[in-house]
Amino acid sequence: MPKITMNINGRDMSAEVENRTLLATMLREKLHLKGTHVGCDTSQCGACVVHVNGKAVKSCTIFASELDGATVDTIEGQANTDGSLNVIQQAFQDHHGLQCGFCTPGMVMSAAALLKDNPKPSEAEVREYLEGNICRCTGYQGIVNAIMAASGQDVPSVAAE
Ligand code: FES
Ligand code: FES
Repeated sequence: MPKITMNINGRDMSAEVENRTLLATMLREKLHLKGTHVGCDTSQCGACVVHVNGKAVKSCTIFASELDGATVDTIEGQANTDGSLNVIQQAFQDHHGLQCGFCTPGMVMSAAALLKDNPKPSEAEVREYLEGNICRCTGYQGIVNAIMAASGQDVPSVAAE
């Protein structure tokens, strides 16, 4: 089996994987980074979103063997260096952007990618960007509010729901 090395959350990490091993599987089962969730087998739920070379990707859709030398960021690397929640994570907590939390790693990673490309998105742009992330609990308004707050903008009023 080929040995694949990636820089994950700022650290070089290696694992031997089969050619068919998905990035999500390598992260969870080989490297024990279980913050990346797997919620479907149809590439629809977005619970598995990580960043590969700075871009948000569904880690259940790419083979780890194609990523030797890549830079990968996962939810485990998102907190501030002192261990406190980063601005997006804190906003999810403050604005009830999660209930069971299963979708949350993917939501936070998608939100981070959105705000990197579009630091002041409209509510409509947030909703459109999150099309690939499914949440069964929140009804999405708390998630949208969290992302708007994390971008330093007013949180949409309840009447806008
Ligand atoms: Fe990747 Fe659902 S586990 S999209
Ligand atoms: Fe439960 Fe989103 S908080 S699936």
